[in-house]
Amino acid sequence: MHLLVCGGAGYVGSHVAKVLYARGHRVTVLDNLSTGHREAVRWGPLIQADILDTASLDAAFQGRHYDAVLHFCARSLVGESMVAPYDYYENNVVGTLNLLQAMRRHDVERIVFSSTAAVFGNPVSSLIDEDHPKAPINPYGASKLIVERILADAAHAYGLRSVCLRYFNAAGASAEDGIGECHEPETHLIPNLLRALINPAAPLKVFGQDYPTPDGTCVRDYVHVLDLADAHVRALEHMERTPGAHAFNLGNGTGFSVLQVIQAAEQVTGHRVLFEAAPRRAGDPPVLVASSQRARDVLGWSPTYTGIADILRTAWDWHRAPAF
Ligand code: UFG
Repeated sequence: MHLLVCGGAGYVGSHVAKVLYARGHRVTVLDNLSTGHREAVRWGPLIQADILDTASLDAAFQGRHYDAVLHFCARSLVGESMVAPYDYYENNVVGTLNLLQAMRRHDVERIVFSSTAAVFGNPVSSLIDEDHPKAPINPYGASKLIVERILADAAHAYGLRSVCLRYFNAAGASAEDGIGECHEPETHLIPNLLRALINPAAPLKVFGQDYPTPDGTCVRDYVHVLDLADAHVRALEHMERTPGAHAFNLGNGTGFSVLQVIQAAEQVTGHRVLFEAAPRRAGDPPVLVASSQRARDVLGWSPTYTGIADILRTAWDWHRAPAF
């Protein structure tokens, strides 16, 4: 297939582009390079375009045929979304609508959409499956949930085929392919703790130690970015077989607290992580752990990096010698 990977210069998008290429697909990346990296576009040409600019979007579709779009362009920081909600609704909802309309104008009828655990809000069960109530507690999660609804409506109205993949905490890297996690500013736990380890002068801040969890810090389900990439290939195959709008939760099904991740990182790297207590970060739910049973049953997906140490090892390989 010829696949348009929107946001393919970013963290998850670049890993998906690599895996699609390795499975024999032709990849074209669309990215505005606002947060993505040109160096991460290694498996097909880059079209520099912006989903908020419909003319540049149309130019990206003109004269080319794509069998499907994979859509990773988004603002994706919970804390930032709390203080800049308009930016989140504009980029994530209006931008996606622009993309969907461009797809319709250019007869592209399949999309894999990068969604998030944040659509669920505060969990009401220990494992979050797809039927869990969706009540986002931050604009980021709300913006992704609106797009999920748009995709369901588009399935009915236009016959658009879609798969929403709700990532829990994407982590790890593929250092041997020259790609890994690199945000500026960095807000995510694993890159921040590895940076703290490399530069002890800037200790990690642990946001909140009074959550209703066993050690008081937030619990998350970390899933390797290459396992997420594999799910995208399976989602494309699923759409070939099955019309309609579908959604799958992707995680390992095991939660680790911030302090447990720090301990595991110390074991993997052999270094101490210096950290200090900081207030809770707005918009953070205490616990998020996935049930990925539906992805296992329907997509035949199962993560290969199941332990936090395995995931951290690949992130550490990248952070020791990042290619960009
Ligand atoms: N954390 C710290 N210090 C840091 C960075 C993070 O203590 O320097 C904590 C956070 O407060 C949180 C945990 O580590 O408790 C994980 O934080 P990340 O920023 O790495 O990831 P999030 O849990 O915020 O983000 C994930 C997904 C989002 C999703 C969100 C839902 O990446 O897509 O969960 O809350 F929206």
